[in-house]
Amino acid sequence: MPVTILIGAQWGDEGKGRFVDWFAKSADIVARYSGGDNAGHTVAVGDTVYKMHLVPSGVLHANVVAVMGNGMVINALNLVKEIDHLRGMGVTITPDNLLVSSRAHLITPAHIAQDKAREQQRGAGAIGTTLRGIGPAYFDKTARKGLRVGEMLNLTTFEDALRRALAEANEQLARDGFEQVEIEENVARYLEAAQQLQPFIRDTSIYLHERLQAGARVVSEGAQGTLLDIDHGSYPFVTSSSPTVGGSLTGLGIGVTHIERVLGVAKAFSTRVGGGPMPTEQNNAIGDRLRGSGENFWDEFGTTTGRPRRCGWLDAVMLRYAAAINGFTELALTKLDVLSGFEELKIAVAYELDGVRMAYPPSTAEAQARAVPIYETLAGWTENISNARQASELPENALKYIGRVAELCGVPIRMVSVGPERSQLVTL
Ligand code: GDP
Ligand code: IMO
Ligand code: MG
Repeated sequence: MPVTILIGAQWGDEGKGRFVDWFAKSADIVARYSGGDNAGHTVAVGDTVYKMHLVPSGVLHANVVAVMGNGMVINALNLVKEIDHLRGMGVTITPDNLLVSSRAHLITPAHIAQDKAREQQRGAGAIGTTLRGIGPAYFDKTARKGLRVGEMLNLTTFEDALRRALAEANEQLARDGFEQVEIEENVARYLEAAQQLQPFIRDTSIYLHERLQAGARVVSEGAQGTLLDIDHGSYPFVTSSSPTVGGSLTGLGIGVTHIERVLGVAKAFSTRVGGGPMPTEQNNAIGDRLRGSGENFWDEFGTTTGRPRRCGWLDAVMLRYAAAINGFTELALTKLDVLSGFEELKIAVAYELDGVRMAYPPSTAEAQARAVPIYETLAGWTENISNARQASELPENALKYIGRVAELCGVPIRMVSVGPERSQLVTL
């Protein structure tokens, strides 16, 4: 059973990219299954920092075929730009090592305009989306009027369909008092992108099936995180796809019988970008210290939008929930190095809501916003741990912290990272 599914266990940006990179060393295929360029996955190799938004993070390894699955929503212009950018950094990308599902949906400029318009309409209740057109593209998909990647294989019919989609969206934008999108120039740009992307387009589910039958090892690369899931997150402050384990199967078109491991990636503290409840948020000096000043590329500022991330203590209530939803077989904990120097560390072990103690988060955003974390305090450590490469090189209090997190969510922690660079990792 050769598939490892890697999933964000919090609100995204857990450090999935760097762990995908680690697993990709010994994989044949790395396949992304959900979201689009709302994602930003960072992999640091020596002094070079790669930021992937659409292309799976495994593409950096010569042994890997990167697959963009049917569950994704793809901005064709940004995909072409990202391929060019990565090639400019020396990464080989050809139709032999990057396959794009013909069933994935396309993000059009109209989706981006609609995303902005809807956020404006929401006013104070804005979700704080990445404004990449993600929600409107999935909306059109489920409304059964979306454009799919495979349509780019026939430029004549694609041009008609795109023109029609933009015109229809413009009518609604105009009715709502928003600026319309330009049609002619956008159609020309999409046709050019379509021509460039045509060689990459495949039925990726059948490709995966055939490779799995032949014994290939697959890493399924999650985007976003469990708490942003359309069903399981703090609705409506969520993304419009399923970053959780089920999304991986539908978003790639593979069967459950192939799965061997479901690895949750969690940050050693909590971060969230955008609106919505975050019970352990520290809107104070602690949050500022966890975020960092912004001078390091790994400080807590969005990889995609540059927004400062909200920061707070680790929330074991949410993590326990993520473990339950996904059936994690193991966890990887990232950014443990950032906790060095805190005299004491807090972990939310339960919530109190309306006088009741809760082990799992309540299901509405409203109740989550009122939930009061019950903290446990652990002793910190002062040592710089960024050079640790084995468990014996970690301070005792760091090991105790790791052990307590594992205990609180009932899942073993098999790996921790102690810095952003590829090699800054300890297996336990
Ligand atoms: P992803 O979306 O889950 O792939 O995560 P992002 O790339 O958006 O954000 C994670 C950030 O943390 C990136 O800047 C990574 O380089 C950085 N990072 C990952 N692991 C570690 C770690 O163990 N220590 C530190 N200091 N930074 C890390
Ligand atoms: P990676 O893969 C963190 C958040 C947005 C917003 C909400 C909805 O890098 O972990 P959307 O544009 O998807 O409609 O926005 O989801 N969000 C992310 N936050 N990391 C991400 O991706 C995210 N993708 C979306 O900030 O709150
Ligand atoms: Mg990210």
